[in-house]
Amino acid sequence: MRFDIITVLPSLLESPFAHSILQRAQKKGISEIHVHNLRDYAINKQKSVDDYPYGGGSGMVMQIEPFALCIEKLQSERDYDEIIYMTPDGTTLNQEIANDLSTKKNIIILCGHYKGIDQRIRDIFVTKEISIGDYVLSGGELPAAIVVDAIVRLIPGVLSDETSALSDSFQDGLLDAPIYTRPAEWRGHRVPDILLSGNEAKINEWRDEQQLARTRERRPDLLND
Ligand code: ADE
Repeated sequence: MRFDIITVLPSLLESPFAHSILQRAQKKGISEIHVHNLRDYAINKQKSVDDYPYGGGSGMVMQIEPFALCIEKLQSERDYDEIIYMTPDGTTLNQEIANDLSTKKNIIILCGHYKGIDQRIRDIFVTKEISIGDYVLSGGELPAAIVVDAIVRLIPGVLSDETSALSDSFQDGLLDAPIYTRPAEWRGHRVPDILLSGNEAKINEWRDEQQLARTRERRPDLLND
């Protein structure tokens, strides 16, 4: 699976993909992440990619031409399944969206800055608009990294134990059960006896109950859905 991320801050996206699971996925050739500097497509000598908003108002707006040039260059090289714009007014990311995107082959992600991007980019090129939550960040780079992480870990072969992505919180619409590791007792705090019993059926039953109880307590909205 290939991601092309278009940004004015490429260095901000170096670290998130250079560690752990995301790094391993690239080394195994399962995912490719290409970061493009929007300023390379600027149409003026100053390499600026933003301008004042028509109609006045505060903040700068990212221009259509640099994004169009970069997107069209990529599209001339391969077909893309989605062009995603990271924006607080998009659809809120959830596991279902991540699952769906993990089945795609090539995805472009646009990172906005300042006041946002010219609406015509959204109208003409963008196929999906995604928010990572109801708060505003200073740019779309960190949200883009979150979207890529949520997708890549779902691609078969990325996680060593493939079932572990399936047992994530949210995959079955419920939060995860509590988990423990050694020691069985730490400063008087004991791991629940059931987990030490070796009785797999009982353990699964306990985990199901815990998942339900935790979801009911913390995210009753998931049960209503
Ligand atoms: N850009 C700024 N804030 C954002 C958010 N919450 N989600 C996605 N992109 C953003």
